[in-house]
Amino acid sequence: MTGVIDISAVPASRADATAHVGVSPQPLLEVRDLSLSFATAKGALPITRNVNFTIAPGERVGLVGESGCGKTVTGLSLLRLLPPQSARIQGDILFNGTNLATLSPRRMRAVRGREIAMIFQEPMSALDPVFTVGDQISEAYRIHFPVSRAEGRERAIMALREVGIPAPERRCDEYPHQLSGGMRQRVMIAMALICKPKLLVADEPTTALDVTVQAQITDLLRSLSERTGTALIFITHDLGVVAETCTRMITMYAGEVVEDAPVDDVLTRPRHPYTSGLLRSLPGLSKRRGVLASIPGRVPSPSAMPAGCRFRARCSHAVASCAQNQPMVEIGNGRSARCWRAPELLLPGAVN
Ligand SMILES: Nc1ncnc2c1ncn2[C@@H]1O[C@H](COP(=O)(O)OP(=O)(O)OP(=O)(O)O)[C@@H](O)[C@H]1O
Ligand code: SF4
Ligand SMILES: [Mg+2]
Repeated sequence: MTGVIDISAVPASRADATAHVGVSPQPLLEVRDLSLSFATAKGALPITRNVNFTIAPGERVGLVGESGCGKTVTGLSLLRLLPPQSARIQGDILFNGTNLATLSPRRMRAVRGREIAMIFQEPMSALDPVFTVGDQISEAYRIHFPVSRAEGRERAIMALREVGIPAPERRCDEYPHQLSGGMRQRVMIAMALICKPKLLVADEPTTALDVTVQAQITDLLRSLSERTGTALIFITHDLGVVAETCTRMITMYAGEVVEDAPVDDVLTRPRHPYTSGLLRSLPGLSKRRGVLASIPGRVPSPSAMPAGCRFRARCSHAVASCAQNQPMVEIGNGRSARCWRAPELLLPGAVN
């Protein structure tokens, strides 16, 4: 094996989890034709277009793509956390059969935190500096379950223990500024998982942390997901993390899903030229080959989106027909790609 990602080193538990990909009769989450736009002074600005994907119960899916491709807004759309004054959502977000896109704000509050939780890159901005971490975790539980303060505290201590915080009885009474960045992210994970949600959306949860702590938090998320059966949407720029943690990878480009595939397959043989470019841009692989294999050009801005294939200006495989809009093409084995040439192109991946 010559690539930077050694899939033989991927935990066996991931391989087990892969077994159910695509065969679950009832998806946990089914996103259908989700389009988001923001109201601006110049009219509606489209941000994402016809996003489709499903998540099976307990599945771990990496959502990748360059900056500005629409990963965060997609995660926020699922929880309806976008500013209601300006964000316009079209399409369906079926969660266990209930359409979250049309749910009342009151019923949505009952879903948020209880059924679906989200954690972000910077835990300090999500934690309230004037309350102890124990109070904040306990409150996340008491919003959904009518328990006493004492029981809430007990639950918070258990949750801190579960995310590997030493001396949780003591840490429970500390304030966010008394904890390291890694500890704070563990607190956020404890808070997100205390109600045992069925889905956790983790938006670059390790980006603000140093490398050793990043690996610990990634391992923690994977092991908690395995243990509790919580499905995970892992938004990240780090394809190595996706390889180690997830069963499936969804690539977004310029507000659209462009590839959706089991991780092992996409690492070996990406079907969309953009995914292939991302995989070839992995630093370890470029160094090994002595070239900087980056993708030329930039992601187009939402206000200047080109017609036809949105990746065309950067694609070395483009031909005249790519000037037409590209639908997702089914390729078999639970895979699809938004490129009409996907079935014929032989593209390099990260694992050869
Ligand atoms: N509240 C908003 N109003 C207007 N445009 C927005 C708003 N939030 C995001 N956008 C735009 O939506 C697009 C997608 O943004 P998003 O934050 O989802 O990207 P991303 O893929 O998460 O990028 P990154 O990897 O940098 O986090 C960007 O062009 C961004 O400028
Ligand atoms: S449709 Fe054409 S331009 Fe777009 S990714 Fe495929 S080959 Fe490249
Ligand atoms: Mg983002």
